[in-house]
Parts: sequence; C-alpha cells; structure tokens
Amino acid sequence: MEKMGLNQIREAYLKFFEGKSHLRLPSFSLVPKNDKSLLLINAGMAPLKPYFTGLQTPPNKRIATCQKCVRTGDIENVGKTSRHATFFEMLGNFSFGDYFKNEIIPWAWEFVTEILQIPKDRLYVTIYLDDDEAYEIWTSKTDVNPKHIFRLGKEDNFWEHGIGPCGPCSEIHYYKDAGEIVSAEDFVEKSDSDRAVEFWNLVFTQFDKDEDGNYNRLAFPNIDTGMGLERMATIMQGADSIFEVDTIKSILDKVSQLCGVKYGEEKAKDVSLRIITDHARSVSFMISDGVLPANEGRGYVLRRLLRRAARHGKLLGIEGTFLYKIVDTVVENSGEAYPELKEKMEYIKKVISIEEERFSETIDAGMEILKGYIEEVDKNNKKILSGDKIFKLYDTYGFPIELTQEILEEKEIAIDIDGFNEEMKVQRERARAAREESTYMGTDVRILDTIPSEIETRFEGYKTLELKSKIKILIKDDEFVNSIEEGAKAIIVTEATPFYAEMGGQAGDKGIIFNDNFTAKVEDCKKNIGGKTVHIVEVINGSVSLDSEVTLQVDKTRRAKIANNHSATHLLHAALRTILGEHVHQSGSFVDDERLRFDFTHFTSVTEEELKKVEDLVNKEILQLHDVETQEMTLNEARESGAMALFDEKYGDKVRVVKMSDFSVELCGGTHTTNIGKIGLFKIVSESGIAAGIRRIEAVVGTKALELVDSKIKLLREASELLKCSEKDIIAKLNQQFSELKEKEREISTLKSKLASGAEDEILNNMQEIKGVKCAVGALKDIDGEALRNLGDKIKNKIGSGVVVLGSTSNGKVQFLAMATKDAVSRGIHCGNIVKEISAIAGGGGGGRPDMAQAGGKLPEKIDEAISAVEKVVEKLVR
Ligand code: ALA
Repeated sequence: MEKMGLNQIREAYLKFFEGKSHLRLPSFSLVPKNDKSLLLINAGMAPLKPYFTGLQTPPNKRIATCQKCVRTGDIENVGKTSRHATFFEMLGNFSFGDYFKNEIIPWAWEFVTEILQIPKDRLYVTIYLDDDEAYEIWTSKTDVNPKHIFRLGKEDNFWEHGIGPCGPCSEIHYYKDAGEIVSAEDFVEKSDSDRAVEFWNLVFTQFDKDEDGNYNRLAFPNIDTGMGLERMATIMQGADSIFEVDTIKSILDKVSQLCGVKYGEEKAKDVSLRIITDHARSVSFMISDGVLPANEGRGYVLRRLLRRAARHGKLLGIEGTFLYKIVDTVVENSGEAYPELKEKMEYIKKVISIEEERFSETIDAGMEILKGYIEEVDKNNKKILSGDKIFKLYDTYGFPIELTQEILEEKEIAIDIDGFNEEMKVQRERARAAREESTYMGTDVRILDTIPSEIETRFEGYKTLELKSKIKILIKDDEFVNSIEEGAKAIIVTEATPFYAEMGGQAGDKGIIFNDNFTAKVEDCKKNIGGKTVHIVEVINGSVSLDSEVTLQVDKTRRAKIANNHSATHLLHAALRTILGEHVHQSGSFVDDERLRFDFTHFTSVTEEELKKVEDLVNKEILQLHDVETQEMTLNEARESGAMALFDEKYGDKVRVVKMSDFSVELCGGTHTTNIGKIGLFKIVSESGIAAGIRRIEAVVGTKALELVDSKIKLLREASELLKCSEKDIIAKLNQQFSELKEKEREISTLKSKLASGAEDEILNNMQEIKGVKCAVGALKDIDGEALRNLGDKIKNKIGSGVVVLGSTSNGKVQFLAMATKDAVSRGIHCGNIVKEISAIAGGGGGGRPDMAQAGGKLPEKIDEAISAVEKVVEKLVR
C-alpha cells in the first residue's frame, strides 16, 4: 500500500464516488442551519438532514462530501490518546432513496482494497446482529474473509439519534498487527486498543423511528457513510497516532518550534503539544465559519478551546500570545481544500490574538487565586472546591469551568459542580432560551413545513415581476383548506412565482395575487424549511380555490427600492474592505425598501474620517454607472473569479455571482438593480458596535437619502432663523452665545455668594443665646445643598461655639441644615433631633448626627414657622 497524504486521500475518495455518479459538494459550514438541536456540525450527514427526511429535495440523489466536524464530548481525552481530536474531517457518501446495501458494500470494499490497496488480511467488518442481508452481500459480493465478519449489538452497530431516520450499520476496521482474531469477544477487546482503527461506518438508514419507539421501514431507504479522514491517514501513513499524520504533524512541529519543546521527550509536555495542535485546528475552522468567542452557545465552545490551548502554552513555558502564530500552518495544510481558511486568514489571526490577550491579562492573577484555593482545600483536607470559588474564577478571570476542573484534577481535587451550576443559572437560562429545545431533526415542525417536497414553487422573479400560475396549496388557521374567501388571512402556494421570499437578509416582496373572482394582498413572502415559497396574504375580495389560475404581481416600486438598497450593500461591503482592510467580512445584513443595515467584522470603532471615506467611495462608484451583471457558475469558478463568499450562506452546486465592475464581486441570491447609477445617492445614518468585534452601519439610498439631506438642511434653516443669523454664521453665533452664557453664569454665582454673605451678616446680628448656648438661625432663599453647607460652616466657625440652624427654599421645596460645635453637643444639642422636629412642620422628615444633620420638606411656605420653632426645640434640649 502506497503512502498517501491526507489531502490526497480526500481527493481520491471524492473522485471515486464522482465516478459512481455522486455530486461532490463542498463542506457545509460548521454552523448548523435551521437546526437548533446542534451547536456545531458533528457528522457528514448533519447538514443533510432535510434531504434524509424529505423536507428538501437534494440537488442529486447521490452526494459525496468531506465535511468539517467538531465534537467536544471527549475533550478530556484529547492529547492523552493517539486518536481523539475535537476537529476532524468526515468523508461521506450519501444516497437519498437511491442505491442501498447492494451497492455501497462492494463499493466500500473496492475503494479500500483497490484504490487504497489496504491488505485484506488486516481488514475486519462488523454488522448488526440480525442483518443477514448485509452478511449475504459482504460474503457474496466482496472477497472479505468470512471469518473476519462479526455480528455486534445495538450499541456498536445500530445508528440512531433520538427519533427520526436510523438503521443498522456496518463498520470496517483495520488491525495494525497480523494474526487472526477468532471471536466477537476477542474482537471487542482488541478494538479498544491503539492497535485497532475503526475507520468507516456504513449506515443503512432503513427505518424511521417514531415517538412510540416503533421502527417503521422507509419506502426509500437511504445510505449515510462516514469515514474519519485523519484515522484513514494514520493507516495509509503507518502512523501510530493522528498527530503523526503529515498535515497535523506539520502543525505539531510548528507548535513545538514556537515553544522550544521537543515532541516525544516528556509525556506531560506531549499532551500539551497535542492539545494545542488539535485546538489550533478547531478554532481556526470555527472562526473561518463566523463563530466568535462568547459566554454561551457555540461561542463558548470556541472560547473554551482557545483558553485551554492558551493555558497549555503557559504550561510549556511560552510567554505572551502565540496561538495566532499557528494559523499560517493550519492554512498551509488545509487551505486548498477549504478556501474560506485562506480568505479569512488575517481575520482568524486577529480574533485569536484578541481572545488570547484578553485571557492573558487575567490568567496569571487567576492562577494565583486558584493556587490559594488549592492550598486552602489541602489545609482543610476537603478534596473539593466550592461552586462559588469556581464561579469567581470563571466570571472574573475567564477560566472556563472545564479548565479549572482540569487543573484541579491534576491535584486530585474534585469540583462542586452543583454549586457552580447554581451560580451559573442566570447565564445558562439565557443561553437555553436562545437555543430553544428542539427535535433531533432540528426544527419544530409547523404546518408550513409539512408542504410536500414534490410541490414545486419555481422562482421567476429575476426575470419578471408578473406571471400567471396555479394555486397548489392553501392554508388557513393552521390547516390545509380547499378555498379561501374575503377577509381571510391565509397562505397561498403556487407552482411558480415572481415574489422574492425573505432570504439572505433581503426582505420578502409585497404585491397582489388576483383573478377575475378574487384579489388578495401579499403582505409578506417567505420560504419554509423545505425551501418552498409561501405567500402570506389577506383576501381583499372574492374567493379562490385550489388549482385556480391566478396572476401574481409584485409591487414594482417597492422591489426597485429593495434592489437599490441591496446593490448599495454590496458597494458598502467592498468600500469597507478597501478603506478598513481585508479583515472586514459581512456578518449579517438586512435590506428592505426603506434602508439597509450591514454588520461586519472590525475590531475598533470606525472613525468619522474613515466613515466619510467609505461613503465617498460608494458614491464615487455609483457615479460610474456600471451595469450589474449576474451569472450562475460553480462555487470553484466563483472563487476563482474573486467572489466573496459569506460566513453563513449555504451554497448548492451552482451559485449566483453578482458583479458591479471589478469593484464588487459577491455570491448572492438577492435581487439587484440593473445599473448602480439607479441607487442615486448613498448616505450613512449611523455606525455602532453590536458585539465584540462586530460593527453595524445603517444607511439610506435614493430618495430616502435625499430626504435625510433635506431634513438636515431644514434643521439648519430653522436654527438660522432662531439664531437670527445666516446659515454660515450659525457656529460662530452659537459660540458667541455659549461664551455669553458662561459669563452670565459667572455673574449669577458672584451675586449668589453676595446674597449669602448678606444673609450671613443678618443671621449673626440676630443671634441669640439660649441657656448659655449661642444659637444662629435663619430662613433663606435659593441657596442649594452645597452652598447652604458652606454658609453653615462659615457661621459655625465665626461663632466658635454654639448651634447653627438654616432653612432654604428652592425649586418648590425646602431644605434644613443644623450644625453644632462639640461643646454645644456636650450641652445636649442634637442636630438630628432639631431638623427632625422642624422639618416635620414643613411636611418633611429626616435626621442625623448630633453635630450635623439635614432634612427636606415639601411645604416651602412653612419655612418661617419651622425656623421660629428652633428656639423652643433648643431650649428643650439644652441641659
Ligand atoms: N453518520 C454516521 C456517523 O457519524 C456515518 O458515524
């Protein structure tokens, strides 16, 4: 058997199945679409679920892919064993109601023994206990040694996942050692060792398991196979572990060079090297698919992997950030097969280094704290760390719980997960709400989603805005109906439609559907999970029934406005990349007839100057009056023509490329204007940050942009009228007024202090002595909190000994203040008691210390009465 590189094996596999009439599709994104049951794609079949259930029609009945996958269920074993990894590639071939066991078994054998030329005496096959059919095919249609076939139970050879499509499977294993395995027990025992590799699982999806646990036979059974590419590479390269496979080994070499640590010298260090190598792969791929570090969902998986790798870097003695430096090597090895890695390389590095920096700011402090906790646990002989401490490390120092757990495990200390979970409840609940519980097949099935897949809803809206078609489905009140009448809010599905269904951030079309007997207003247009276009309508008059012919007419003016906004979004995207840099990628957008919104990756706020440059560049392009060209081609052709693919779009075998000269070339299914000149004018309304590393621009075009400019002009006119100056003098006039205002404020404060000192004299002149205690009392106006306290202090200092009680009215309220010297307090004065009594007279309350107290009151007209009561209160208090 010839030594083959990992990339070579992938190509050989896909080519082999292309030769068997399979359509080769590129890997789907790691981020699942319309499937809330999964955080990340974990198998080749996962993105194809709608084809298995029949909700969507596949572009071909035979498909072959190499799917990027992430699984973190076994993360604690990663690095410790030779075969565990969080990132792997799964080769798969799929039949949707087409071929079955009779074909796949001999094909699999052919590929393994003839293309890969793996020696037959090392190959073993397992089948499900009672799957005689598979046994028969293996023994009659291949030359596998019948003694190498073992029957195993449900745990090993039946593939199911909750309810839904499932079935028995047959696995192919490779043994590194020569010599016969004689019994199923012997087989099971050996397959747990590193000497055995299970590399290909052929699933015969022949049942649909229902909620009662019945296995109903499918009319058209499917085939789903999965081969671990890295595992196959270990076989083809005679490697002992996946970390010795060519592409992965070069990443490991890079890590070991960065750390200055040799692989294979020390066990613990090897574990760290392997962890960093594996995680560098998974995080690069996840980020290239648009995942960003976060505290929940898949963002949390990413954060956890990044921080775990960063900590192992520390264990190896690396100072500062280093992970981002491994990205080049990941891209070198996988960039050909996954062009998104190449396209987003700079962006991936940026996201990783920001997260590394963030973590390195707190990791040392966190480790110190954790060391303290560990000492405490050891001292008290407890062997468990409490939940609140783990939460503190998580919340303040960014230690994912699994990281704390891993560090503690090394010290044989357990963690109080329940306690931690209690603390996490709030965050977790939020995450759950965002994720929502769902069925295995990923959707909550609504009536809309049960529209049969054979119903066609052809989109003709690129070419025409009006056509005649037949009604195939009517839905009213969540039920399929035969007819709908005036006043009904309903759903109409037709064989063909010019209406664009909301997709890719473009709003659905509005318009009317009518014939001689009825008219309905189309309020929105959407796609169901199976990709069928549905018109959401209200019947204005008449009635209509199934199979009637109707005219569908899109609101032309609205569509034109949407098209202008959509085309402007492409120009904005290109302009942002020109002005801010290639790290800018679209991370969401929305366009309708009123405005456009564009979210993109960028790590600082956009300056006024940059924003202006972006706007100018878009407007400059608009004035070039380029035609918008759209063309269908394969994804590879599109990439070669320089088209930008988005993070979260799912592309079939053909993609649509929208080109506006060389300035903007994007993959897009939306409807665009015919010439960018029609956009007219482009104005940015706002720029803001919406999440870490994601900015949002909102903008308007055409008449909306003119309206915006007009409203600013009107504002200027109104301001100039108000300021009684010409528009060009507004700023100068305002500046002049501001300085006049400042001058006046200064005058007012001088006057106020003059007033206060006048009051001070008066209060001192009227001072009385009550039972030998000096008592300065006064009612004032418009002196607020601080000024009142200053005045009180001043009077207190002047009298040297005694009590000062002041009241002041301002803004419809009254304030009281009492202050006393120490000797007066020793004579029985208690300021708190004084203000309490007198403020009660003015409808208020309050209190305070013996030497100082304040209170408020709601009845300013009672100030004099309150102040004259002071004398009596003091008399009462003095001993
Ligand atoms: N879906 C099967 C697996 O993941 C092939 O093993």
